[in-house]
Amino acid sequence: MKNIYLSVTLLFFLLGCAEEKPKQKLNGENLLTQKCAACHNLDMPPESYENEIAPSIMAVTFHLKDFIKADNPTEHKPKIISFIQDYVIDPSAEKSFCDKESLESYGLMPSQKGKVNKDELEAIASYMYDTYDNQILLKQMAEKRRLRAMSLHERVIEQHRCNTCHNIEEDKVAPSFKMIAQRYEKKDRETLIQSIKEGSKGKWENKVLPMPPFKKLSDDDAAGIVDWILGLNP
Ligand code: HEC
Ligand code: HEC
Repeated sequence: MKNIYLSVTLLFFLLGCAEEKPKQKLNGENLLTQKCAACHNLDMPPESYENEIAPSIMAVTFHLKDFIKADNPTEHKPKIISFIQDYVIDPSAEKSFCDKESLESYGLMPSQKGKVNKDELEAIASYMYDTYDNQILLKQMAEKRRLRAMSLHERVIEQHRCNTCHNIEEDKVAPSFKMIAQRYEKKDRETLIQSIKEGSKGKWENKVLPMPPFKKLSDDDAAGIVDWILGLNP
């Protein structure tokens, strides 16, 4: 009898082990940050290349995309993923696509064996392939240039969509920026910054909507747009 119990327990135990764990979807972006950012800069493009201890992930990915060729375009990504899966665990000067000079200045990448596994590397490499992309970089740089060319108030209004409710001249669901400028003075600067960052309601007659808070607006941007609004009053 005891034996039967034992075998049944054993059977369940074995079944339990054999049952495949559902494969979780790993988050490549988080893993890249956790496992690789200590040495590799993840920005696209990096703000600066000074004091680098390893090439940026953007440089690494662009590099691999250039050097690793595939006859069939659908094979390109899988090939790069396998390269990364292998290189991170077992790096060597022979495998590296880094030019000799860079390799000497950075030193060979230390193996990350035991710190990251194959599945995690697949998620990381797939994320790298999709994110560090020439087209995306060009678009982001063009967008940055466009925003930089704008004056501060134009940029804030566009980024936070203030003009869905406000107009400079026209009284809409929200008071026009000129009406606000007429009601307030320089000494009310802090009050207005507060209204924008925390929201406002009941201060303007016949406005049914409250003004939502814009907590993500930086202090500098909030102050800048308040100065611009107050400046609309001649
Ligand atoms: C301790 C620092 C360090 C960590 C952590 C690190 N790397 Fe590196 N990595 C380097 C250095 C240094 C190089 C440049 C020298 C070389 O190519 O081996 C490099 C190069 C690479 C290359 C380029 C190989 C080539 O041929 O151009 C890849 C791909 C790479 N790393 C991926 C990763 C990934 C993915 C992670 C996170 C799982 C990671 N690295 C974590 C230091 C690091
Ligand atoms: C969803 C509509 C809406 C959006 C979007 C919106 N506002 Fe308003 N705003 C209002 C309304 C409504 C009021 C009047 C609230 C009241 O009666 O207190 C208001 C009031 C204000 C006031 C005056 C606050 C006070 O203390 O009298 C300022 C300044 C202002 N908005 C700036 C902005 C700026 C800057 C943005 C974009 C970052 C913005 N608003 C986006 C609806 C909006």
